[in-house]
Amino acid sequence: MSDRRPSAGFSTKFEEFQGEVDSHEALYKYSIGQTDEFWGRCAMSRLSWTQPPKTVNASDLNSGEIKWFQDGKLNVCYNCVDRHLPSHADKPALIWERDDSSKSRKVTYRELHEYICKFANVLKANGVQKGDRVAIYLPVGLQGAAAMLACARIGAVHSVIFTGFSAEALSHRIDDADCKLLLAQDYTSRGGKTINLKQIVIDAANKSKSLKKTLVYSEADNQDGWLDSFTDLSKQIEDASSECPIVEMNAEDPLFLLYTSGSTGKPKGLVHTSAGYLLYAQMTVKHVFDLEPSDVFACVADIGWITGHTYVVYGPLANGATTLCFDSHPLFPNAGRYWETVAKYHVTQFYGAPTAYRMLLRLGNEFVKSHDLSSLRVIGSVGEPINVAAWTWLHEIVGNSKCDIVDTWWQTETGGNLLTPRPSNQGAEIKPGMAMRQFYGIEVAICDPGTGKEIAWEAGQKIEGALCFKKPWPGMARTIYGNHKRFLETYYNPYPGMYFSGDGAVRDEDGYVTITGRMDDVINISGHRLGTAEIEDVLNSHLSVSETAVIGIPHEIKGESAVAFSILKEKADLNQENVRSELIQLVRGRLAKFAAPEKIYFVTGLPKTRSGKIMRRILRKISAGQIDEIGDVTTLADPSVVQLIIQKVVGAK
Ligand code: WT7
Repeated sequence: MSDRRPSAGFSTKFEEFQGEVDSHEALYKYSIGQTDEFWGRCAMSRLSWTQPPKTVNASDLNSGEIKWFQDGKLNVCYNCVDRHLPSHADKPALIWERDDSSKSRKVTYRELHEYICKFANVLKANGVQKGDRVAIYLPVGLQGAAAMLACARIGAVHSVIFTGFSAEALSHRIDDADCKLLLAQDYTSRGGKTINLKQIVIDAANKSKSLKKTLVYSEADNQDGWLDSFTDLSKQIEDASSECPIVEMNAEDPLFLLYTSGSTGKPKGLVHTSAGYLLYAQMTVKHVFDLEPSDVFACVADIGWITGHTYVVYGPLANGATTLCFDSHPLFPNAGRYWETVAKYHVTQFYGAPTAYRMLLRLGNEFVKSHDLSSLRVIGSVGEPINVAAWTWLHEIVGNSKCDIVDTWWQTETGGNLLTPRPSNQGAEIKPGMAMRQFYGIEVAICDPGTGKEIAWEAGQKIEGALCFKKPWPGMARTIYGNHKRFLETYYNPYPGMYFSGDGAVRDEDGYVTITGRMDDVINISGHRLGTAEIEDVLNSHLSVSETAVIGIPHEIKGESAVAFSILKEKADLNQENVRSELIQLVRGRLAKFAAPEKIYFVTGLPKTRSGKIMRRILRKISAGQIDEIGDVTTLADPSVVQLIIQKVVGAK
């Protein structure tokens, strides 16, 4: 299906196992048969330790206790930056492609090292110590990446919050993790528009109880004096010393927290630790993307998401490659921005999201064809299922039928790619729109939601169920910050002895895996994960709303969009149109712009079971126009609401 350039040979990719294994299958078999030896040998050769570990794996999926290399010591920033200085200090570590491309810049390993040291000294001067949590509200770019690595250098735990989130979402995350310090920015620029983050920073700083200080990096002048109540980050970095020793960390010390949505409750702060996470980042980017140190790796995600952590910052830098930070918009100044960037820097791997690919493919091939993309070898996709049309477009048009297309399945919780067509034997087929294979050391189990047990799979058989994993791997999350109970309930209790992803999947006759989607009330809008409960909470906080159910429905570009069904309180003078636009504004302001529902229906009742659970499945069927597939409604507390909702939805079309 996908043509391959001649391979460099299997064993050169795995110096650890040269002479022992000579094929992908043999190594995969070794990795799941002798798991500890596999990870242990890779950890020794790929990471630089101040104290090498004696133990490899002390994890137990039954109890949800995950520990790797627990007696080892190292520093993650050292592994990503310092250790590359002797061999290639003057090679670009980071290319910062800014919205205004004339301001873009390349930063060498030497320069990045110096900047991180200065940044780390600023953190220390502002009272940050090992183990303290630091909130980062910065876009992808030099400051954002350096802020993360500066925390890692001194053992502080970073929590990056996507700059698309509101003040309320930001301050909730700051307080939940007891962050002492906030690193923020006043303005940023996206798609030629200036985005004002100032008011969000002021509001969040006022609201957050745990914050001691806010340091602001300024992109504009301080005409109105607003910065005076904060610390000027740029000035302090400029004045700081460029020498900063690393702090030795235990392998299991937390490296960062990252918030993500679940099906209920507030977003949860997943905790990733130092050595295991870094090893998994280093290995997946190297083997899934065939990354060489001389490559320019462009993952166009923001650092506000796990993809930005693993595949913009930690993974490529741990390999000593050049990472590209894409700090613009794919349509700015035209739909060729990605490809212009690839051509400009001779990008070798490009990693993006289906939602952007779907948008671009509609705008025509000239935007691709007018650029020289011959440097590209691998094109990745992440965040949601990629449809065959988008996959084929990437393969034929962007990749000129010469690149591997890797659909990578993983999650905030997994730290890095778990399922993907590569690695595999060179030349092995890649099926369009399928994540296909397990990474080394990863073992899939498809489970039956009814019995909680694994469904046995044999070659030639096709099975479907809950996507679980029956072996621990170094990159997996260790806990939910401050709520280990929720961690166990969500991931370990549903299928004892296994990690449960929350997704459904099919395993086909050849053993390849396709994702069927979430099995819980999590939706995915343009690759951004949201709990329907989070949107419902905001809508219900409106004075005129008594109750709401939110569902995700398929959307051609965004993958999914949110649709809300709200019951209004009875008031004589209610103007429904006004309420509708107030509700949209409320979600944009209190959660995030991307979370705003596409449609809001005002209904008189919701389909609930007698125990009060909202049957979102029925709302999904109605929204999809599949009225005849609604099924039995007699178990509902009030079956008549279904007809009323159908009339509303059909009437509105
Ligand atoms: C959820 C995780 C992984 C980084 C970005 C998202 C969905 C992710 C794929 C894919 C189908 C995918 C899953 C998963 N998802 N990648 N290749 N094919 N679905 O991380 O925000 O933690 O979301 O995204 O439903 O559970 P996240």
